[in-house]
Parts: sequence; C-alpha cells; structure tokens
Amino acid sequence: MERRKFIKRSIFMAGSMVLGNALMTACKNVIPESESLANDFINVVSSGTGQKILVLMSAGTKEGNTDRLTNAWIDGAVAAGHSVVKANIGNVRLDGCRGCGVCQRNGNRCVVNDSMQQLYPIFAECDTIVMASPIYFWTITAKLKSFIERLYAISVNDKYPAKNTVLLMTAGDDGEHTFDHAQNYWKIVSGVLGNKSIATYFAGGCKGCEADNRYIDPKHLENAYNLGRNL
Ligand SMILES: Cc1cc2nc3c(=O)[nH]c(=O)nc-3n(C[C@H](O)[C@H](O)[C@H](O)COP(=O)(O)O)c2cc1C
Repeated sequence: MERRKFIKRSIFMAGSMVLGNALMTACKNVIPESESLANDFINVVSSGTGQKILVLMSAGTKEGNTDRLTNAWIDGAVAAGHSVVKANIGNVRLDGCRGCGVCQRNGNRCVVNDSMQQLYPIFAECDTIVMASPIYFWTITAKLKSFIERLYAISVNDKYPAKNTVLLMTAGDDGEHTFDHAQNYWKIVSGVLGNKSIATYFAGGCKGCEADNRYIDPKHLENAYNLGRNL
C-alpha cells in the first residue's frame, strides 16, 4: 500500500509538471521563462517490491559521467527489485533556502515555489535517498546543496526524517584527497538524516567537459551496479 502511494505520488508529480508547464506557457507574463519548471525531470524508473528509493542526479549533462554512474547504480537497484524514482535536478530551478523561517510557522511548508515542491512528497515517502554529483570545486553541486538546505522546511525541532543514504560522485582528479570535503560533508548530512545505512561511491579519473568526449572507467559502472544490486 505504502509503495503504491510512493509510485502514484511520483507519477502524479511527473504528470502535473507537464500540465504545469502548459499553464506556464499560457501565463508567460506571470512567470518569467527562465524560472519556469522543467516538465520531465521526475521519472518513475521501476515499481518493485523492495525499498522506495528517490535518486537525485544533480549533474547538468544527461549521459555524462555522473548520469552514467547513477544509471548503473539504478540498474542494480532495479535488478534487486526496488522501487526507483529518478529526478534530474541539474537543469531545473531549485533555489537554496532563503532563511525566512516561514516554514517553521506554517506547518513545515516552504514558500519558495520551485522544483523542490515536487520533491518534498516523494522524499517524505522514500526509504532511501540517493544523491549523485560530480565534484565541483572539491564538493557537491550547488543544486544538491540547495536540496539539502531546503530540507530545513520539514525539520521539526531541528530533527529530520530518518533515511538510508547513498552518495555517488565523479571527479576529474583521482588523488588521495579528491573527495575529502564531499566525504566529510556527507558524514554530517547522513548523520542529520538519522545515521541509517550509509553507502558511498567515488569515481575518480573521469574526463569531463574539458575533453572531446566524456569518459568514465567501466569498472566504476560495474562497481556502482553492484552497490545498487546489494542495497
Ligand atoms: C565547474 C566545475 C568544477 C569542477 N571541479 C572539480 C574539482 O574540484 N575536482 C575534480 O577532480 N574535478 C572537478 N571537475 C571535473 C568534474 O567533476 C568531472 O569532469 C565530472 O566527472 C563531470 O561529470 P559529468 O560528466 O556528470 O558532468 C569540475 C568540473 C566543473 C565543470
């Protein structure tokens, strides 16, 4: 029943985005185009009988290194029978927290009307949250950071819902300390989310937008698949 609600809600959110976009086109004078919401950023990948998983892929490039790593992880999770909803947040409007505090006085609702509104209900119902990001300036993307900041709206007495957490990252460098900042930050984030089951995968040595063709070592894709398969 719970799983059905998760899938239903995810399909509803994806569908209402299409409708919302049509409405926005009709109301161009109300919402500037640059702030319009993408209509297809949430995809229901599978509806299995296992865990309910929300995957946030925060790179701006589809089929890039991070997307490929994420999809490999998802393939594994799907093979293991989980329910997976993937949100590509790299190119949608998702602002950081404004710190207005209104959420703490109006039933934990954030007043910022952007893509996060579609993600709140799916996040609320998921068992596991997967965050995928390329390393940008030694840490996660600004989009992912915005998502994390906006969770403040649903906190009660500084307490957050408990979730299993998975972090998937790619980077150009492949040094001993390439992922240090992100890793340290993730310890805090997964701690805030209840310190439940925590998994991380860091794929260094990728070729990104500086190269003619992006490249991620196939061994990373295999490892990510196995991580998803063994969730
Ligand atoms: C703005 C920007 C900042 C980056 N910062 C770093 C960095 O600090 N360390 C690093 O190893 N790679 C860095 N990279 C490289 C990316 O992390 C790497 O190419 C990644 O695999 C790209 O993933 P994508 O194909 O999903 O976009 C940066 C790339 C960009 C565009």
